[in-house]
Amino acid sequence: MISRINNLEDYAVAYRRSVSEPERFWSEVAEQFVWRKKWDKTVEYDFDNYNVQWYKNGKLNITENCLDRHLLSRGDKTAIHWVANDPHEKDRIFSYKELHEQVSLFANVLKRNGVGKGDRVCLYMPMVPELAIAVLACARIGAIHSVIFGGFSAQALADRINDAGAKILITADQGPRGKKVVELKAITDEALFKCENVERVIVYQRTGADVKMDSERDVYWHDEIKSVPNVCDPEVMDSEDPLFILYTSGSTGKPKGVVHSTGGYMVYTWYSFRNVFQYQENDVFWCTADIGWITGHSYIVYGPLLEGATSVMFEGVPTFPDAGRFWRVVDRLKVNIFYTAPTAIRALMAQGLEYVELYKLDSLRVLGTVGEPINREAWEWYHQHIGKGRCPIVDTWWQTETGGIMISPIAGVIPTKPTYATLPLPGIQPVLVDPEGNEIEGKGVEGNLCIKYPWPSMLRTTWGDHERCKQTYFSTFKGLYFTGDGCRRDEDGYYRILGRVDDVMNVSGHRLGTAEVENAINMHSAVIESAVVGYPHDIKGQGIYAYVVCDSAELEVSTILELKEQILEVVIDKIGKIARPDKVQIVRGLPKTRSGKIMRRILRKIGEGQTDNFGDISTLLDPSIVEAIKEGAVKDN
Ligand code: WT7
Repeated sequence: MISRINNLEDYAVAYRRSVSEPERFWSEVAEQFVWRKKWDKTVEYDFDNYNVQWYKNGKLNITENCLDRHLLSRGDKTAIHWVANDPHEKDRIFSYKELHEQVSLFANVLKRNGVGKGDRVCLYMPMVPELAIAVLACARIGAIHSVIFGGFSAQALADRINDAGAKILITADQGPRGKKVVELKAITDEALFKCENVERVIVYQRTGADVKMDSERDVYWHDEIKSVPNVCDPEVMDSEDPLFILYTSGSTGKPKGVVHSTGGYMVYTWYSFRNVFQYQENDVFWCTADIGWITGHSYIVYGPLLEGATSVMFEGVPTFPDAGRFWRVVDRLKVNIFYTAPTAIRALMAQGLEYVELYKLDSLRVLGTVGEPINREAWEWYHQHIGKGRCPIVDTWWQTETGGIMISPIAGVIPTKPTYATLPLPGIQPVLVDPEGNEIEGKGVEGNLCIKYPWPSMLRTTWGDHERCKQTYFSTFKGLYFTGDGCRRDEDGYYRILGRVDDVMNVSGHRLGTAEVENAINMHSAVIESAVVGYPHDIKGQGIYAYVVCDSAELEVSTILELKEQILEVVIDKIGKIARPDKVQIVRGLPKTRSGKIMRRILRKIGEGQTDNFGDISTLLDPSIVEAIKEGAVKDN
């Protein structure tokens, strides 16, 4: 069968066909879904004005493929197995039949609240089954979901709601995470002061805390589902109708709403899920991501459900109540495939083996990582202590924009190599280019990673601003999708991701723009300007280093320490805790060229602690500033 790669030869054949006859290849893969109307043309594209269409004029509903399609053969099989933050709280298990019913109920709730096809629905929720249910309910009626990670601040939430133009928000009273509780409803209330368009808030009661309800605007989830029918016909959607918006950071200040569409996203998340992880019918699959990120969309919700898989959803954090939590859940649920982030592995590694040795981990068959480069030590530890040397590790490289895994081993099929994402999946055509855009061919080379042919789940636009999408991804190198990553292709033809080449940081697997953090810092009344860079961090992969210039006349604080605290508070307030700088250094000035451009290269070097060779600094306006920053860096940090 074309859709299942079982060995190296299958891979070679599939890959070759996907390049020589892409339309036939992707047409055959798509055959197995329920389409209300078949497509006329598999793909049509133009990378110059950026326009791409997959499965043109095909009609379908993705939830019919995630749910209804499985009811006969897998109705009683577990679709979602939820594990609470508190280890003493009971699991919640939803069979395909039950999930189908819950989704239908909530879809009817959305309809009754005036939501229709094409409307945007924002979700600001903890990791509870109702988040997956709400996502699918939107898709059921053709509304566009936009999940906003529960760690974002009120301001960040408001910015995203307004950009998406949502009239309705789904949230919860609170969200437990480790020892803490996130006050989702209170944050929502604060955000909504700035969102005039939101007419309705549906509140799921996670903890039952007493929260403020606005009688005109707010309703409870459990009240709403009481009085609606439990059947909801799926809305028939066009292949190219938007399925969701997901905000992500770029090199400019404003996060952009990456738009994914229906047909292509469905085909590719399914195809990549089953092949990369080699999912077998009775496997239990656990992806530890949050549904607030693309990983959760594609590999907790859509990919697994399209396959008819059992997907574990976890509310908590890796270190609560202790660093053995993941492994306890793996043993208890007999998880076969486990997918997490390098930053979690490094954090657990640092806690010591005693938390691992208590568990058998013998159900595991495949391990995966995602989100950032995995260093060799973490790879080896994961392989040896979690996989006991017998589980292949799939180091999956992809992006919010790509919708699904692009470069990755296929478990047990493609031989792995620590720190390498290895080879592209069928249908993915990576190229490395030099700064002028010339393709660098051959092996043992490095360059900017681009993709030269469309794949079904690529982003279609950035919400409300197609020009920005064109500029960001299709104008740096003509005729190519530019990923923003640097990459090496080694002697074996294997790909190794080297990290971002633009002003985007990757902090604990979270993507943040330097400009975004700078904009937040600059909101402090005493700050004149700032520059933010990423620097190597043992656990987070990258930490955030902020160089800040202040106006001493504006300073109302007595100590530098207090000032730094305030700056951190501003960032937490504007973006959220994930963006809190690890280091703040107050400086007299920033290293600028005569034309006023900040030489970030120098700041990055200082951040890395490499201060002996800055390269060419002849264009610097005031070299003494560099010396001062260097000294300050040693003193401060
Ligand atoms: C950026 C995309 C894809 C879901 C999570 C992150 C980095 C991602 C890897 C990997 C090295 C990786 C890249 C990429 N990245 N996976 N396996 N090895 N780097 O999605 O927030 O859109 O971030 O994450 O730099 O461009 P995202």
